[in-house]
Amino acid sequence: MSTAARFDFAPLLPAGLPAPAARWTGLAKYSFVGGNNDPDQVPVDGLVDAVTAVLRREGRALATYNLAHGPQGYLPLREFLTKKLKRDAAIDCSADDILIVSGSLQALDLVNQTLLARGDTVLIEQETYQGSLNRLTRLGVNAVGIPLDDQGMRMDALAAALADHKSRGITPKYIYTIPTVQNPTGSILPETRRAEMLRLSQQYGVPILEDDCYADLIWNGQRPPAIYAMARNNSVIHIGSFSKSIAPALRVGFIVAPWEMMSRMLALKTDAGSGALEQMVLAEYCAPHFATHVPKLTRGLRAKLDTLMEALNEQFGTSAEFEVPAGGIFLWVKLPDNVDTLKLYQAALAAGVAINPGPEWSTNKAHAGSRLRLCFASPSHQQIREGVAALAEVCRREFGVPARSANVEKQARA
Ligand SMILES: Cc1ncc(COP(=O)(O)O)c(C=O)c1O
Repeated sequence: MSTAARFDFAPLLPAGLPAPAARWTGLAKYSFVGGNNDPDQVPVDGLVDAVTAVLRREGRALATYNLAHGPQGYLPLREFLTKKLKRDAAIDCSADDILIVSGSLQALDLVNQTLLARGDTVLIEQETYQGSLNRLTRLGVNAVGIPLDDQGMRMDALAAALADHKSRGITPKYIYTIPTVQNPTGSILPETRRAEMLRLSQQYGVPILEDDCYADLIWNGQRPPAIYAMARNNSVIHIGSFSKSIAPALRVGFIVAPWEMMSRMLALKTDAGSGALEQMVLAEYCAPHFATHVPKLTRGLRAKLDTLMEALNEQFGTSAEFEVPAGGIFLWVKLPDNVDTLKLYQAALAAGVAINPGPEWSTNKAHAGSRLRLCFASPSHQQIREGVAALAEVCRREFGVPARSANVEKQARA
């Protein structure tokens, strides 16, 4: 080790940086956090075949930025998406309407950079994706939460918020929605509400940002058309991802947008293209296999959800309340009011159980204070059962909830 004094970067840092990141300390033993997928469901063999085939055939194209397919991404992947979006979401678009990005997080950044300035207002589902909420907070944007019910965003509440903002001379920059398997609540916005949202969007001149990254993971495979597909006036930006249907570590997402937005986002996408190998492999794998891979994946996810719900019922009894989600990888759970899930999160982590505390996933911190989000895709069935038991133990110790442990109840019944 050198004895020279360490260089001090602190005086160089500009104002307004986010708080520094903590060092990575690894995943918890029982990890119910994040949007991770089921490791056993990554189609490894299919991806190996795809990478070999596409590299042999087109590997020389890697010598050119964007594989010489232009800044919107690898053409066969965009062509796959046009067919998939037509079949599944009723979206009529061409490859020219699609931009491949480095995960839908980059899509969110590009939309935000294009449309938002400090002090702007965005209407957002009250319970929502933390990554979207944090981005808006960081940009100094006012994120106004619209309450949800078991069918997603409430249109009466959206209408009231739009009217209220209009009366104050404020035009929100966009309405952000995760309509098809909402994160974290797991609902699907019915077609009638989609139509009503479009009507309100038109009436108030506010575009819609439709984040559809869970749309492939529906238990019964039935989904309403995308809001993008129902719009008649180019007022919707649609974003999607391969993170939830294939694998999040690939970092491949996409945006479908009118050229007016697309051309602005392209001007802001200064990374010289998203990773080409991932795009090539996905196009090669998905064209023949996506349609058979997804139902297999969702069957496995549904089985894990059942294990999680059984474990919660067994360990927490009536203390844990939840609606059965329509698909996806999350369960949104309500515990009794006296449970503070931000505190539970700390205590559980010390015991090796990672959960997402509700207040981080809501604009209404009080409403979400005793709620939590559990990802059931990445832990195994056994980890789900053990992790929920460990969580119940911590929760009972810290908050007296559940009142009795499942073991004591089993002994009492025996
Ligand atoms: C609603 C929503 N949007 C976007 C993302 C970002 O996904 P990715 O960047 O992996 O495509 C996530 C991830 O969990 C999400 O839940």
